[in-house]
Amino acid sequence: MSRITLKVNGGAHTVDVDPATPLLYILRNDLNLQGPHFGCGLGQCGACTVIINGAAVRSCILPASAVKGEITTLEGLATNGKLHPLQQAWIDEQAPQCGFCQNGQIMTAKAMLDKNPHPTDAQIRESMNNTLCRCMSYNRIQAAIKRALEKPLGFQPPDTAERVVPLTHGAASGGSRASKKAVVA
Ligand code: FES
Ligand code: FES
Repeated sequence: MSRITLKVNGGAHTVDVDPATPLLYILRNDLNLQGPHFGCGLGQCGACTVIINGAAVRSCILPASAVKGEITTLEGLATNGKLHPLQQAWIDEQAPQCGFCQNGQIMTAKAMLDKNPHPTDAQIRESMNNTLCRCMSYNRIQAAIKRALEKPLGFQPPDTAERVVPLTHGAASGGSRASKKAVVA
């Protein structure tokens, strides 16, 4: 076991773990950050994506001992109580179906837009290409990204509270369509 300090969403957290433990396990089990999901566990689906130093990273295959830098999870996107424009766009476009993949979709999109704030449709498709959605909500995901591009950072319409429905199914288990609150919070 080793003591490892991780910088997550602006805070520092020290955990006592096997250094080979995947970052995803620590985020979910030790830090109770349920945004990143366990999908394939093989680095292939993207459900576990977090952002480290600006890059989208698959946390299921990243040993804790190899983490260097600032980690941002889905929980770290909102600022001052306001949803990130991508999160709001996801709600407005009703992008999720079961919701399971959507952490990876949003985090991958954020990393893309941070590097390229004005992507073409083709660049969006290429950047999102390897983040899988078994519900095939790709068209809505693309629409949500394009909607987010229309709004300045920090945009939030006044009726947001009415659009966010309560979480009724566990985000970690995939949930149902009602799990969209888990995707954005
Ligand atoms: S769970 Fe990490 S890529 Fe699938
Ligand atoms: S797997 Fe993408 S919404 Fe269900």
